[in-house]
Amino acid sequence: MSHHDRVRAVVWREDALELLDQRLLPGTMCYRRLTTAAEVAQAIREMVVRGAPAIGVTAAYGVVLAARIRHANDTNRWRASIEEDLALLAAARPTAVNLCWALRRMERVIAERGGEPMERLLAEAQAIHREDIAGNRRMGQLGAGLLGERGAVLTHCNTGSLATGGYGTALGVIRSGYEAGLIERVYADETRPWLQGARLTAWELVQDGIPVTLLADGAAAALMRRGGIRWAIVGADRIAANGDVANKIGTYHLAVAARYHGVRFMVVAPVSTVDIDIPDGTAIPIEQRAAEELLTLGGQTVAAVGADAWNPSFDVTPAALVDALVTERGVVLAPDAEKMARLMASRGEGQ
Ligand code: MRU
Repeated sequence: MSHHDRVRAVVWREDALELLDQRLLPGTMCYRRLTTAAEVAQAIREMVVRGAPAIGVTAAYGVVLAARIRHANDTNRWRASIEEDLALLAAARPTAVNLCWALRRMERVIAERGGEPMERLLAEAQAIHREDIAGNRRMGQLGAGLLGERGAVLTHCNTGSLATGGYGTALGVIRSGYEAGLIERVYADETRPWLQGARLTAWELVQDGIPVTLLADGAAAALMRRGGIRWAIVGADRIAANGDVANKIGTYHLAVAARYHGVRFMVVAPVSTVDIDIPDGTAIPIEQRAAEELLTLGGQTVAAVGADAWNPSFDVTPAALVDALVTERGVVLAPDAEKMARLMASRGEGQ
């Protein structure tokens, strides 16, 4: 781990999965030890671990845990009975496509015959984890290369080491840009209702010694109007074949405000976040979460009793509002269906 990347959310230790409980940050640092797929699915659902790439890595280790139990129970039929665990994991959160992508990779290993399946599965999960970090480092370099003149940037939600295998996607670009002297300050939306910006992004940046200023989500347009913000940089949970981007609720209005104010808008995500089977953003499943997340704060009721709440966890930003999509395979400027198809067919020469 480098100076600008000090924490790991997902750790495989002594034959079990340890997850840093992100619900308790920044006040308490507590790793939860999980040994079954059901525990892993619950941890994903309840936001112990979150962020699309971190969810994918976690699910892969969840398959290792499931296989160990199924294999010990029945060496001949474990490949059939593990289907139940795979379905449970796949259903944990619907928008982050990295979850299903990781499960598909693990399924291919399950289908292999011969060799030591348990060892192969663990090796595959660890490869997914390692490749995610390497991809983030590459995106960090590529994204920083787009920043141009030194200035401030704005980000939303948490896309850092906590949301990935390590280093981060959008926050990886920010880390890399700061190291290169191209970023003087990061403005971070607090990101209601889970406060990933206030609790997690600010925590990561403070630890790295990168200057960070928090703002209420509704203050972003006013900040842009004041001038000085060069880029809004965000991650993604799923990107459709035409380049439409699903990400944390509030990303869409950030993109609208950015275009209006001449602030450039960068999306940073690995190709495992691209869902080429979904033609455009209207078909992306958007997770709806419990009304309590809006009606309460820290366990206390804050809203008028009797009010309903609409609580989509993600929104869709049309590709037309995206100036640059940064992946580990290369940068796509002003993404559209044709450029996305070229990216997915390429082996990383850049677009
Ligand atoms: O609900 P969350 O915290 O899982 O949402 C996370 C985001 O929206 C991130 O921006 C996205 O997953 C990319 S993380 C590198």
